[in-house]
Amino acid sequence: MSRPRVAVTSVVPGHALEWLETACETTVHRGPALDREDAVAAFVGDAEGVLCLLANPITDGVLAACPRLRVVANCAVGYDNVDLEACRRRGVWVTNTPDVLTEATADLAWALILAVTRRIVEADALVRSGRWTGWALDQMLGTGLQGAQLGIVGFGRIGRAVARRAPAFGLAVAVCDPDPAPEPGLDVRVMELDELLATSDIVSLHAPLDEGSRHLLDEARLRSMRPGAVLVNTARGPLVDEGALVQVLADGHLGGAGLDVYEHEPRVHPGLVGRTDVVLLPHIGSATRETRSAMAELAARNLLAVLSGEEPPTPVVRGAAVDGP
Ligand code: GLV
Repeated sequence: MSRPRVAVTSVVPGHALEWLETACETTVHRGPALDREDAVAAFVGDAEGVLCLLANPITDGVLAACPRLRVVANCAVGYDNVDLEACRRRGVWVTNTPDVLTEATADLAWALILAVTRRIVEADALVRSGRWTGWALDQMLGTGLQGAQLGIVGFGRIGRAVARRAPAFGLAVAVCDPDPAPEPGLDVRVMELDELLATSDIVSLHAPLDEGSRHLLDEARLRSMRPGAVLVNTARGPLVDEGALVQVLADGHLGGAGLDVYEHEPRVHPGLVGRTDVVLLPHIGSATRETRSAMAELAARNLLAVLSGEEPPTPVVRGAAVDGP
């Protein structure tokens, strides 16, 4: 019996490749990211499964060009790179990698909160520059967290993990979510977005990107944040109108921003790059060795399950039934 062919759009860590190669004819892309539809389609070709990354657009055009494809196993919790409706219509399964990256991403949101409020990157640069002349009472003053309010937009797994860390830093937590899941033992105030923005000292974004959430923070909403407030985004860049953010920062309305994601990755608005009140990271929310291996392995388990006619562990779109091998 012939083994199914699968395409993996990048080298991945952990045991994922080993598992795929044992069960399937596996082709791995080793060059620069396949970030155009035609390149993805040409690489996937007649494969029955693709293990892909969020830089790979999986559009209706890709599905049309790859008619044997039965499963898109995205190695990310987000799946805004995948046309879910087209997959549904064509009976293609879509899976993602939730849970395994929750704690790493929440840690990174906190790293950004602390980096911006305590000016960590600026302070590091001062020491490296050789211009540090010694301890001074008024040097590199930041903003304390005790007693402040952390506003969490999107109270899913990652938003809740960010909230769980807040009591350790003395922050009150406000959350906004269409359907906030309970977080036992944690005192959170549920608010509408506008109230959360108007009352929070730090706003951290954890909402998925979809047509309803694109530019959720437009210029008016950014200006409705408290003067001096800090914005942290470890979710998806297009949740924020990046041009408006540059303007609002330039006007001195906000106290700073910590960004791990951008509207047009990997491009970053030039108006952000020169600012000392922003900390800019290259989309590394889930980037720990343990987490990235766990993500790749979960994606591989999802892909193999579908091709064996079994229920995948973390489906997003249920595709057509597949006869097992
Ligand atoms: C990363 O951004 C992810 O969605 O996993």
